[in-house]
Amino acid sequence: MKLTVPDYILSITPYPPGKPVEELQRETGIERTIKLASNENPLGPSPLAIKAIQAATGRVHRYPDGGGYDLVQRLSIHHKVDPRCIVLGNGSDDMISMLTRAFLQKGDEAIAGTPSFLMYEIMVRSAGATLIQVPLRELAIDLDGFLKKITPKTRMVFICNPNNPTGMAVNRKAFENFLSEVPPNVVVVMDEAYIEFAREPSVARGMDYFGGDFPLVELRTFSKAYGLAGLRVGYGVMPKEIADIIHRVRQPFNVNLLAQLGAVAALEDEAFLKKTVRLTHDGLDYLYNELDKIGITYFPTQTNFFLIDLKKNADVVFQDLLTHGIIVRSMSSYDYPTYIRINVGLPEENRLFIEALKKVLS
Ligand SMILES: Cc1ncc(COP(=O)(O)O)c(C=O)c1O
Repeated sequence: MKLTVPDYILSITPYPPGKPVEELQRETGIERTIKLASNENPLGPSPLAIKAIQAATGRVHRYPDGGGYDLVQRLSIHHKVDPRCIVLGNGSDDMISMLTRAFLQKGDEAIAGTPSFLMYEIMVRSAGATLIQVPLRELAIDLDGFLKKITPKTRMVFICNPNNPTGMAVNRKAFENFLSEVPPNVVVVMDEAYIEFAREPSVARGMDYFGGDFPLVELRTFSKAYGLAGLRVGYGVMPKEIADIIHRVRQPFNVNLLAQLGAVAALEDEAFLKKTVRLTHDGLDYLYNELDKIGITYFPTQTNFFLIDLKKNADVVFQDLLTHGIIVRSMSSYDYPTYIRINVGLPEENRLFIEALKKVLS
């Protein structure tokens, strides 16, 4: 085959997703497998969302409402913003894709932390633009470092808050200073996929700064705290001017019917959200405590996942844990060769992880 592909596409490494449980079951024959690798909700979906989805399966022969009217209306009430400021996405990945397609072209620069969420790099490069990567400072996004890298070519910055894969969040003072310094033509993308889990009061929350006269885009997802990762639904809250531009590149039916209905129901299920956040915080406290007992270094988080430094080859520990039916993420490809990242599971899953870790390390 003779294909002509732009160099900037050929240089992209595809996104490596967490290992699916079905794959591990096929490979090892282990029936009880535990996935702590993709920061999903261990409780499953909200029961109200399941009910709404089940009730709508007979309607999937129709296209969904392309504008997602109901979900947009509910979100506008939830966030107290004009519905015209909300754009829905097929996951927040889709939001990142639309933003980069709409604003970036060859010669432009965008800034992100490193390591941070890999889709920023993939999407910026897909648009032919250049991603400038600013190393984290003590595992956190270094906003002063971002400011130093801004040039006349900078069009967009990605603040992963809290940051994936480290779990550290930006504090309000640092974010306010950043907003006061960033040039007004730079789109500030605040990706808050995990903000529902943040417990530290000093954490900056993008929505608190919405409504000013600057191009701030807040990204949220139903994949994590709301338990709907498989449905693919996320959204952005942004000034109307930016939403108008994003709609030009949005696929007409980018959020499917079941995803729209599931998300509306999940948003109403406040009890489920509370339960998820409580389970996450309790799980973190349990895991920190157990790791303290066995003297293992870890990095407290503002999310539902955190890094553990095993001081051993993380790829080897990852493989060893698989033999116990447990899937974690090795951080070797993120330049942390001795770190793994795990997300909080159900109490029993957390206990089995600690048990397996002890065996693997002994
Ligand atoms: C920081 C961050 N942003 C965005 C996403 C994408 O989420 P989704 O496309 O499922 O909404 C993820 C998923 O892991 C993430 O970690």
